[in-house]
Amino acid sequence: MNSQVITEMLLSGVLQQKQKKLDEVRSQLNWGTPLSELPVWDKSEFIEKSKTQTGLIVISGIVHDCADFLVEHPGGQPLLKSSFGKDATVAFNGGVYAHANAAHNLLATMRIAVIRDSRASGNTFNSQLEYLAKKSEEALAKKEKN
Ligand code: HEM
Repeated sequence: MNSQVITEMLLSGVLQQKQKKLDEVRSQLNWGTPLSELPVWDKSEFIEKSKTQTGLIVISGIVHDCADFLVEHPGGQPLLKSSFGKDATVAFNGGVYAHANAAHNLLATMRIAVIRDSRASGNTFNSQLEYLAKKSEEALAKKEKN
């Protein structure tokens, strides 16, 4: 066996150990309820429930209960409060503010339902990427026009 093969074997052993540790940490984190386990609501159900329950926000086809988070929101209470009972997908993904990874992960812990026929995606970054792609296309078109 040549030395390169030995080095690669040792490295893959080290990588496996590291992956095991990462998997352990990952399993202890709260990644939010999987979408398949959430109840499914019609849009009208969301509107109806929002009349009596404060703090519900739709982002990327998923209903989140943000009531307890209101006082903690780094972007302030008024912006979050004005999104209660609404679809804030665009606002959350750059329309008002492009939230960081941590905010997307935090959001996932607040899931309570999925909206029927909504292209719901557990990966809220998809909407962020779509939003950014649209923005850059617009910017390009504007540049070409000038
Ligand atoms: C729905 C759940 C929301 C969660 C969990 C959330 C979470 C956060 C977090 C963790 C930050 C700190 C910076 C970052 O991580 O990006 C932040 C900042 C901010 N958020 Fe939100 N946010 C939510 C909704 C919204 C909405 C709907 C708006 C606007 C309509 C908004 C506007 C802002 C703004 C403007 C900041 C920047 C604060 C600053 O640095 O000055 N957020 N948010």
